[in-house]
Amino acid sequence: SLLNGDERLLSGKKVIVTAGGTIERIDPVRYITNDSSGKMGFAIAKVAQELGADVHLIAANTSAEPPVGISIEKVQSADDMYSAVLRQWEESDLVVMAAAVADYRPREAAQTKIKKKDSTFTLELVKNIDILESLGRSKKHQFLIGFAAETGNLETYAMDKLERKNCDLLAANDVTADGAGFGVDTNAVQIYDRGGMVERIPVQSKEEVARKLLTIAAGRMGGVL
Ligand code: CTP
Ligand code: CA
Repeated sequence: SLLNGDERLLSGKKVIVTAGGTIERIDPVRYITNDSSGKMGFAIAKVAQELGADVHLIAANTSAEPPVGISIEKVQSADDMYSAVLRQWEESDLVVMAAAVADYRPREAAQTKIKKKDSTFTLELVKNIDILESLGRSKKHQFLIGFAAETGNLETYAMDKLERKNCDLLAANDVTADGAGFGVDTNAVQIYDRGGMVERIPVQSKEEVARKLLTIAAGRMGGVL
């Protein structure tokens, strides 16, 4: 059969994937976001579906072509993404937080366009909820994968995030490395668990990275249904 062995590693599993950069409103025509293209999250959603999972893709701001055949729940802010994830959380088996969630948002989103006035303008930001950390605190049967985009000290930051957010696996990449990070079709990641580095995945397509990451996760998740 075509549908056996490695092909259906996530058969019967419900998987939530978040992708893209959240949009934090300043006013009706302006917002804060980041360079995330959504490509890594889209690749994970596509491969998870190929591996037999029931995929729920939640995407904020993206520039990449969305995967065909997977419906997308569109969200804007970190708060919106958190609500969307929570609606699926109880029933999910695996959550992959590939989204670049904004750390801060404007204290208030103005209801009308802010007019130009003085020579300086101060925008006050307040911290967003950490979605992954919150899931890490309330997880039961769920398997949690976090991402970390870093510009150095990969291992230190990765291990810190993994523990702080109670993740099962964390995929860290150096966004300054060639062929890794934002906008490009390739990535290179190091995968960590509680004991340290599990695997170093050299530069390859984001789909191949997704396949390796999900294969490791599937091998560690609870028994096949
Ligand atoms: N994350 C999240 N909610 C946030 C911020 C981050 O769920 N408000 C998730 C990301 O989706 C990612 C992981 O946490 O899976 C790590 O994100 P990262 O930005 O690297 O970590 P931070 O804890 O925000 O630390 P810093 O930005 O200071 O490096
Ligand atoms: Ca952050």
